[in-house]
Amino acid sequence: MTPTGPDRTGSHRDATVEAVADRPPADGPMWDPFDEAHVADPFPIYRRMRDEFPVYRNERDGFYALSRFDDVASANADWETYSSAEGIDLDNTGSIFFGAGNMVEEDPPLHRQLRAVVRHHLTPALVASTEPSIAAKAERLGAGLAARLHDGDAVDVVAALCLPLPLDVVGSLMGLDPERQQYVHDRFLVMFARESGSASIPQAALDAAQDVRDLLHDQLEERRRTPREDLLTAIAHGELDDRPMLPEERIGLSTLVITAAISTTRNLLASIFWYAGRDDALRRRLVDDVAGHRGAIEEFLRYDSPIQNTARVTTRDVELHGVRIPEGAQVSLVFGAANRDERQFPDPDRLDLDRVVRRHYAFGGGIHTCIGAPLARLETRLALRHALPQLPAFACTGREHRALKFNERGFEMLEIATP
Ligand code: HEM
Repeated sequence: MTPTGPDRTGSHRDATVEAVADRPPADGPMWDPFDEAHVADPFPIYRRMRDEFPVYRNERDGFYALSRFDDVASANADWETYSSAEGIDLDNTGSIFFGAGNMVEEDPPLHRQLRAVVRHHLTPALVASTEPSIAAKAERLGAGLAARLHDGDAVDVVAALCLPLPLDVVGSLMGLDPERQQYVHDRFLVMFARESGSASIPQAALDAAQDVRDLLHDQLEERRRTPREDLLTAIAHGELDDRPMLPEERIGLSTLVITAAISTTRNLLASIFWYAGRDDALRRRLVDDVAGHRGAIEEFLRYDSPIQNTARVTTRDVELHGVRIPEGAQVSLVFGAANRDERQFPDPDRLDLDRVVRRHYAFGGGIHTCIGAPLARLETRLALRHALPQLPAFACTGREHRALKFNERGFEMLEIATP
């Protein structure tokens, strides 16, 4: 894999780019995923992209974007044309943080081989067997949060529940003890913090990523000496088709799995709390209608997709909606826009917990479909079932910070209190 990721000029791709038929306004990009205002409410812009610029071109950063459901579906299904091997992040986070072994930035056959190393630890059946322990974690975190709310405290629900739950779940799956989980937690907060308007990764984030890699390196070495029953052991002893994994690949794969599990699930849970804290009828419904949780979670995933976009690089020229996307172009697949496409979902901008969502792209699609989706769904269901009912009625206080990373939708901080 060659990390050729974009810079703010996108110059490595501009050389081959041809004019796009209908250009958006020249004064700055219409869709700027690095801009705080766009992050706060990208949906009107997504609608314009779908309607007027189905092949949108961000001239400043040098990428294209597909926003209609069917186009995202086709591109996702066609990895031979839309390759992941040159990176999937508009700011190149993945290539920089994870390096070799980062399967989400590989194409077959290496992608398939890396996925096989972890697949058996994330099957729906195995995930289901962890239900009692996840339920206990949700119960415990919910009790702590409830006690503080009953005491009249305003509480950051992200710090109290939405982040620790997925961290503990994936940390336990991997075999990290509580002290090491806490260390990953502290470094994770720095790793994914971003500044508004900036596509560059802060030095502190790069240092934090190295710290996590160092920790995982030591843990993997330890598992090679003394195998255990955990995911880190599976990675430490992982074999590809014709060779053992390289040490760098083991570290990259472990770092990917742990970080991919945390911010995504945190974002989903935090978004649900945000709606529940602004609409008491919705909160009560989530408490009362346990049978409706599965459907409600799919609607939250559709409506506020925790990962809003990914990217691919074309391996050949593509003609779409009258626009030629040249070979070697970076193309953003905007899951958050596809999941609000009125061509696919009636009244898409309405959060409707009764909606039957048959397909959405919150977990991606094709060969890179999220391998942690069964776990994320289970965790969310158990948080709604075991943590939420313990809480007194609550409301958002207005003290909140949205996640600013260009591809996330969720919260780094969200304060709630009893009204
Ligand atoms: C609500 C929670 C989650 C969301 C919204 C989510 C979203 C996604 C998306 C959109 C992709 C595809 C990216 C692409 O095609 O470029 C993906 C891939 C992936 N996810 Fe998740 N994810 C979640 C939870 C998890 C969890 C809990 C884990 C680990 C236990 C995980 C591990 C991964 C991995 C390893 C990949 C790469 C799969 C591959 O390349 O084959 N995710 N996720």
